[in-house]
Parts: sequence; structure tokens; C-alpha cells
Amino acid sequence: MMLYSFIIVNVIICVGGSSSHPPGHLQPLGLHLPPITDIPVLNKFPSSVEFYEKYVKDGGKPVIFKNVLETVDMPVYYKWTDDYLDKNYGDIMVDMEIGKKEIRKGEMFSRKLSYFLKRYKNMDAYLVEDLPDRMKKDMAIPSSLRCGGFQNVIHTVVMWFSSGGTKSVFHTDDLDNINCLLDGKKDLIMMDRKYAHLVEADGWHKDGSYSDLDVDSVDMYKFPNLKDIPWYQVNLTKGDCLYIPYKWYHHVYSHPGRNFAVNVWFFHRRWFNVTDCHGVDLNVSTAIPFTQFKKPSKLEKFRDDLIMSLDGKEFISQTLFSETLQENDNDLASVADEIFTIIDTDKDGYISISELYSSGNEIFAFELEEDSKTKDGRVDYDQSNMEDDSLKDDLTKTNADVYVNSNNHEEL
Ligand SMILES: *[C@@H]1O[C@H](CO)[C@@H](O)[C@H](O)[C@H]1NC(C)=O
Ligand SMILES: *[C@@H]1O[C@H](CO)[C@@H](O)[C@H](O)[C@H]1NC(C)=O
Ligand SMILES: *[C@@H]1O[C@H](CO)[C@@H](O)[C@H](O)[C@H]1NC(C)=O
Repeated sequence: MMLYSFIIVNVIICVGGSSSHPPGHLQPLGLHLPPITDIPVLNKFPSSVEFYEKYVKDGGKPVIFKNVLETVDMPVYYKWTDDYLDKNYGDIMVDMEIGKKEIRKGEMFSRKLSYFLKRYKNMDAYLVEDLPDRMKKDMAIPSSLRCGGFQNVIHTVVMWFSSGGTKSVFHTDDLDNINCLLDGKKDLIMMDRKYAHLVEADGWHKDGSYSDLDVDSVDMYKFPNLKDIPWYQVNLTKGDCLYIPYKWYHHVYSHPGRNFAVNVWFFHRRWFNVTDCHGVDLNVSTAIPFTQFKKPSKLEKFRDDLIMSLDGKEFISQTLFSETLQENDNDLASVADEIFTIIDTDKDGYISISELYSSGNEIFAFELEEDSKTKDGRVDYDQSNMEDDSLKDDLTKTNADVYVNSNNHEEL
């Protein structure tokens, strides 16, 4: 009966003349135009400098690392069977999203990992969790992020685990991302951030950075601006990783079957510190244990907020600077002009990217003075993601240390 009425409905739609509808109307996302499939494919992780110069620089271009997990020492890849996870980490609490088709602000629940492992094959849920401390020892970071400044900006590693069939909303993230598939298959639809004016013209949630469009059935009348946007198709299989630049639009579909990924979030860099890679092991087949990386300091978050506001530009005006601090609820917003003067070392009234990178924790030393006056110890970033320790470490450096490099502009 169901099937019968389905056929009738289909016939009516076809008779109604599907050709008069815009291409892709009421079809899954991506049928408005043929895909672009020529994303570069590498068979190993590039060196840090190559990764920066060819892929990250100038806002970022996606690149596929095909089958790389077979060539690097990534314990999560060969160790994390369900049995191993259950024996070693079964008691760890993890968060699950209810429903495989993502709805933002949907329901979540927490259970032991062992609970999930027993049931996930028949469960309409998606385990999405920041890698808990105890599990970090199995995680290695792609060697491309070992120096040049990348090593200071690794934000979090997140695991994504389900029995497949999950569909994300069409969205962007503010961080750069290397997504590695430990098991299963994922297909991605990606669009360049340069089409922001078209993608975000209709049904866009600025808060959360995602689109209202139904990825299974796009209403091309509600989203007319999609029709001209080229899109990239990326199909990942077990062992592949993919670099997704910050603010690139993407939708991720996971094929049915055990589906398990880890992704590394890092702040987007606009400058590569060449001297920082001198003497660093360039053997790309060694991956680096995650535990060797420090969480990013408050300084990196501060820089990231400003870099996001640059939007391709090379300079930050005083107005943009103070607006950015205000928008991000930064504690320094009230003293924006004073901080601006500190960072603008050549006093030309603009902060260049080089000035942004060569300034350091003297910015927060200023805040400490303010704090002691106001007795307000609040920090302006997510405590759960960044440790106070890293902040303390930074603040124990003297301003003199930080200023040593402030004239090294030729490195930029
Ligand atoms: C990639 O996945 C899409 C969607 O599942 C499929 O239509 C396409 O044929 C796949 N491409 C390749 C090269 O496997
Ligand atoms: C660049 O790297 C070197 C070596 O690690 C470091 O001493 C220097 O402070 C870095 N420069 C900047 C501006 O971060
Ligand atoms: C690179 O590292 C791998 C794994 O540690 C090792 O087997 C290989 O010999 C190294 N290659 C070079 C050129 O040092």
C-alpha cells in the first residue's frame, strides 16, 4: 500500500513536468550541478612547510591523503577494535547524539563506552566526543603539523563513531580540520567559502554556521542561490584522511557499516615560521603522539579571532580590531586601543599579519594588571578545551622573551 501510493505520487510529480523545476529540486544535495572531483590526492602526509605552502596558505585548499593510515604509526588505526576499546576504555563516559540525521540542538545522552559498543549496531545514535585523556596515548598527530607553528595550535581531537548511515547538516567550522577515517566509508560534499554570499543567502544560521536545507531533498525554490555553486565530491575509505579548510562548507554522509573517524582541529595559520622547522625530523612516516602537544594558549585563540576577522585581508584597522574583540566578548575589549598600540609596533595605524604573529603574551600581561584591579579572574575561552596550565606557562614568560622576535618580519 505504501509502495503503491509512493509510485502514484512519483508519477504525479513527473507528469507535473520535472523538467520545469530547477535541477536538483527535491533531490539529495549535490544534484544541481555535476561534481568537481579533481581535489589533489597525496599518498603520504607532506612536510609541514609543503602542507602550509601548497594547502593551508591563503585560506586553504582541501587535499586528500589517500590510504595514509597504512603508512604512519597511528595506533588508533590498528588498535581500536571494539574488543580493545571495551577492554581498555569501556568505563569511560561518552556523549551520543540521538538520530543519525543530524539536527542541531538535537538530543544528546551520556553512557559508558561499553554501553555504546554493545548496542551501536542497532542504535540510532552517533558517538561524538572529544578524545578523553586516557585515550590520547593511542592517538598520533599527522607529521604535517609538527612544526612551523602548527604544533602550537592543535585544538582538539574528536572521535565520530556509529554504525553508519549518518548525515550531517550542511555547515562550516571555524577551525582547520584533518579528518581521518579509521573504518568505513564517508562521502563529502564541499563548497568553497568564496561562495559565502550565495550559500548563506537563504536559511543560514549564523549562530552555529549551518544551513536549514534538507540534505536529502533540497528545495531549490527556497535555496535558489545554490544553483550556480560548484561543489566538490570527496569519497573517503578506511585509511584515508582529508584536510578541510576552515569555513569551507561541507556535508558528510557515512555509509552503512561500522564507521569510525577521528579528526584533528587546529586554528588556521596565516604565517609559517620557517626557523621553527630547522633541525626537525622530516621523516613523514613517523606520526607524533598526541600527548606531546600542548593545548593552545590563550594567545592562539586571541590570534585566531583576529585572523577570522581578516577574511583574506592583510591588515587589521583599529576599528576592526576593537569590533572583533567586542564580538568575541574578549575581556580586553575595554582596553582595545591600548592593546592595539602594543601590537602595532611600526605605528602605522594597522596591524599586519606579521605584527599579529610576532606579538606575544605582553597583551595578556596588560589584562593581568586589569584583573588585579577588578578582581575578575574570568577567562574568555572555553575552559573545557584549553588548560589553565598552558595559560600560566605563557604568562610566566617575560615580555622581553616575546619581544626578541618582534622584528623578525622577514620570516613572514
Ligand atoms: C562518490 O560517492 C557518490 C555518492 O555516494 C557516488 O555517487 C559517486 O559515484 C562516488 N564516486 C566515486 C569515484 O566512487
Ligand atoms: C619561530 O620559531 C622559533 C624557533 O622555534 C622561535 O624561537 C620564534 O619565537 C618563532 N617566532 C615567532 C614570531 O613565533
Ligand atoms: C622513517 O620512519 C619510519 C618509521 O619510524 C622508519 O621505518 C624509516 O626507516 C624512517 N625513514 C628514514 C628515511 O629515516
